[in-house]
Amino acid sequence: MMKEKEESVYKRDAISYYAQPMINSRYDPVKVRWEDKICQDHYRKMVKRLIKGGEKLRILDLGCGIGYGYHIISNILDKNVPIDANNCKLLDEDDIEYYVGLDINPDLVGIANDRYKDDEKVTILHHDFLRDRYPKRPFNIYFSSGVPFSHLNDDEFSLLLEKIFYHIKSLGISAVLVVDVLGRYSMEWQPQWDEPSWHIYNMSFFSDGNEAEPVYMKFWGEELNNFVIEAAQQAGVKAECFDTFDRSIFIGRHIDTGNFNPNLKKMRSMVNELFYPLQRAPLQEMFMNYTYEDSPEDIRRYYKRITYYWNYALATACSYLGIPTPDWFEVDEAYTIPESLKSDLEHLGPITKDKEIYEHTDDFRADIFEPSLGYLLRNIECNCSEGLGAAHTLISIFEVSP
Ligand SMILES: C[S@@+](CC[C@H](N)C(=O)[O-])C[C@H]1O[C@@H](n2cnc3c(N)ncnc32)[C@H](O)[C@@H]1O
Repeated sequence: MMKEKEESVYKRDAISYYAQPMINSRYDPVKVRWEDKICQDHYRKMVKRLIKGGEKLRILDLGCGIGYGYHIISNILDKNVPIDANNCKLLDEDDIEYYVGLDINPDLVGIANDRYKDDEKVTILHHDFLRDRYPKRPFNIYFSSGVPFSHLNDDEFSLLLEKIFYHIKSLGISAVLVVDVLGRYSMEWQPQWDEPSWHIYNMSFFSDGNEAEPVYMKFWGEELNNFVIEAAQQAGVKAECFDTFDRSIFIGRHIDTGNFNPNLKKMRSMVNELFYPLQRAPLQEMFMNYTYEDSPEDIRRYYKRITYYWNYALATACSYLGIPTPDWFEVDEAYTIPESLKSDLEHLGPITKDKEIYEHTDDFRADIFEPSLGYLLRNIECNCSEGLGAAHTLISIFEVSP
């Protein structure tokens, strides 16, 4: 009997273990090396401000899911670590005093609790961040990731901000607030840019499969920051935005699903191919010549500029490899290439000149050149984002003083 049970457990574990997709998991290179890293670059500034002021991190993660926010913050890299050090993380064990995650979904709370059961700094609570009372502990980071506040309409979001600000006020200590929402002008939903900013995102089906319920989401642009600052004034605290950025401009997940905009190239998959070992990405396919008619002028201008940088970088990479560029692409002197991109491209060039040095690897282009190009393209997004809501996610970080 026991043996039979063991065998079936083994069988089940073996199936889930071996049946994992070889590529294209949720934690694909675009998530880990691009989306998370861009966020962590920004969170580094926020965390350093607190640590420099002698504080330990006390984090409240609103809508924490499986507690990914804890993973993101504890794994921020220190850019200045010497090569001989054993790890390159910014934070030491005791820099985080505690992390409290709140989520309304009991299944996710269960997974998070299981995941962090051996870490005494972590508490995960089944909690509705709009209606339940926050723990009576002081926090210096009110964190969010994965757009939990886009589930709230304006009235609900005001209520949430009021709750957070009263919590900060009642404790009498300053804190930072990270607001992570859906961007209004992501190319993923370009056909919906004209719709009201609170609109139906998808239909969720009840278990009988017959009844469909509309799921509304809120999409934000530059107006986000004033909304938060005004809510702070109303609550009698001061909020100052010290960082705002767009994340996932050309590589959001719905670029590839085409659920909202069927006219886009599957850029996320192609960028993943830059990072996957032993796979060559279709570089010529990665040029973009989308049009942005009927969009607000600043959004159109922004997309045209950043698309040009993207194409210019690809054209330079193609020239290093001796690959022809698409006929329609031309160098346009009207655009000034940013210094950061110029410098990244200058570093990419010598890699191809020295390719014999990498003979010990398997495929120079797939394993050495393309990942470097991937980081370079990521850095365009990282360095040129303007916080317009012109990407999947818009993130703003505020200093809040009671
Ligand atoms: C897309 S997930 C992001 C999860 C996590 N922060 C991450 O980055 O992976 C959004 C989360 O917000 C949670 N959520 C939505 N409304 C909530 C509420 N009123 N109170 C607490 N959690 C909520 C959902 O259950 C979900 O886990």
